Amino acid sequence: MIRERRSSPQRLLAASFGGVVGVQGVLFAAGALAQTAVETPGQKGQSGQAVYAAVCAACHAAGVLEAPKFGDAKAWAPLIKEGQKALTQAAIRGIRQMPPKGGNPSLSNSDVERAVVYMANAAGGKFKDPR
Ligand code: HEC
Repeated sequence: MIRERRSSPQRLLAASFGGVVGVQGVLFAAGALAQTAVETPGQKGQSGQAVYAAVCAACHAAGVLEAPKFGDAKAWAPLIKEGQKALTQAAIRGIRQMPPKGGNPSLSNSDVERAVVYMANAAGGKFKDPR
């Protein structure tokens, strides 16, 4: 009898998305699972909320690596002051511990911008979705 290789679905997902983020396996698995849930082929753009849930939440939900936490108005206030364009640029290029596009190069710049808008507005910002 041929022995099956033991790989749980999580492990497979983690392996296939493993290169994407570059933090611990737990985060890959969480991000990868969420990502498959929102990815719709042929869709023009993803909502900021969907991108946040799929990619950014891995760090920003709990404040991993000192990421400004989702909904933390105090942490976000000085960032919001920098303005939508500056924050979006930082999120696209990466800044210190924050990887470019949150570690997901398949995101378009406007997907990233919508996620920035979503996070900033959840913390008291008044940013506007890009067209
Ligand atoms: C691997 C963890 C990680 C992921 C995933 C991640 N971030 Fe971050 N992010 C960070 C960290 C850490 C910082 C704090 C960087 C610093 O200032 O040192 C940060 C900071 C930021 C900032 C503030 C930038 C500034 O000018 O200080 C924005 C905006 C941001 N992230 C947006 C996003 C968006 C949008 C996503 C999803 C597309 C995302 N992040 C995904 C870790 C992450």
